[in-house]
Amino acid sequence: MSPTMTRWPEAAAPTTGPAGLPRLLATRPDLAGHLAVLGPLPPVGPEITVEVARAGLLGRGGAGFPTHRKLEAVATRRGPRVVVANGTEGEPLSAKDKTLLVHAPHLVLDGLDAAARAVRASQRILCIERGDPAVYAAVRQALAERGDGGIEVVLTPHRYITGQEAALVDFIDGGPGRPTLKRPFEAGVGGRPTLVDNVETLAHLALIARFGPDWYRQVGTAEHPGSALITVGGAVSRPGVYEIAHGTPLQDVLGLAGAARPRGVLLGGYFGRWLPAGTLAGLTLDWRALASRGASFGCGVIAVIDEDSCAIAELARVATWYARSSAGQCGACTWGLRDLAAATSAIDSGTPDRRAAADIRRWTAMVKGRGACRLPDGAAAFLESGMEAFAEEIGEHQAGCCRRTDRHLLPTPAPEAWR
Ligand SMILES: Cc1cc2nc3c(=O)[nH]c(=O)nc-3n(C[C@H](O)[C@H](O)[C@H](O)COP(=O)(O)O)c2cc1C
Ligand code: SF4
Repeated sequence: MSPTMTRWPEAAAPTTGPAGLPRLLATRPDLAGHLAVLGPLPPVGPEITVEVARAGLLGRGGAGFPTHRKLEAVATRRGPRVVVANGTEGEPLSAKDKTLLVHAPHLVLDGLDAAARAVRASQRILCIERGDPAVYAAVRQALAERGDGGIEVVLTPHRYITGQEAALVDFIDGGPGRPTLKRPFEAGVGGRPTLVDNVETLAHLALIARFGPDWYRQVGTAEHPGSALITVGGAVSRPGVYEIAHGTPLQDVLGLAGAARPRGVLLGGYFGRWLPAGTLAGLTLDWRALASRGASFGCGVIAVIDEDSCAIAELARVATWYARSSAGQCGACTWGLRDLAAATSAIDSGTPDRRAAADIRRWTAMVKGRGACRLPDGAAAFLESGMEAFAEEIGEHQAGCCRRTDRHLLPTPAPEAWR
């Protein structure tokens, strides 16, 4: 039986090869090593879309949208087309895309190449966040080794919102990188039909092109096949990037990552939801099982709050980060997220005013679906689920008797200023 989970870099021996796990991280960063482990990318044409559909590949940028439908949507549009590999990874808790780009850049570039051939794109772009020398060096080295001058590398600002696909297109086209109402598959880069895919999605596509849909389905569940990179963080002794088979029990992941006494778990990153520890039994990591508990796989982030850590301080900091991350162009987002941050901070600092908790519940309902992008929806899901998961602790803060430690478990990097 294939292993269902492996941690990078300990178990990712380059000689493991494509069978079992690891899959994505089994290759090597240099071209010779990459080809020795996986062999060359076979010729790819539009028919790969059918293989991707049979494989059941779902996007890894957060929404889990079927990749073949995106390929079809772009391939059937007229005129020159563009493919953008989204390696920006603005989610502060996630490290899987950067890990992939550093350790398997050729697999991502193969995927970008295969996607471009599938939709017959004339332009290929790889977006990575500026200010990460390891990612930049790995990508540059890989491109030099391939002698591929046809892939443009765009360095994006350190800002969560610029990873949203329309914002990314706006930035590539010389804009500030704010979301727009344009749909990239219709009017993307330079007004051309554009496929925006996450770099992990493209890496899976490159493996499907090599080994086929049946191989892809050898791990995972029937509805959510294949493997995924996940990032485990928070109150765990072995944080990091793991490759798992979809359907792996969450408790196995928590056990391997060293989560002692978890009190609540955030699934899917800052766009995801909190589940209290009491609801985790039997939960498996696949879209269907997670949806049955109101959660989602998102970009594969799992963050743990334990018994001793103050969750409200974490919620307040992330609420403030959300408010700072707003692109400031939709009222509900600009003012709603600011007020949500203030109310959450008020609870954290021990205000006895019980209206703050009610305000948060009311305002989260009000901001949902009210932005040009889904940032307010993400903030609302994060906060409303956090308020439920840590309801007892809210009472402790209001009574001024929270004895837990503020451990700064959840990172909240300052977004780059708008130019
Ligand atoms: C606020 C926001 C931030 C996002 N950030 C990222 C990101 O950093 N990387 C990414 O691949 N997708 C991100 N996405 C999702 C992209 O819009 C897009 O759906 C994704 O790149 C498509 O790739 P996929 O189909 O391969 O998942 C973000 C979406 C939103 C709403
Ligand atoms: S919802 Fe917020 S982040 Fe999204 S476009 Fe509007 S102001 Fe910008």
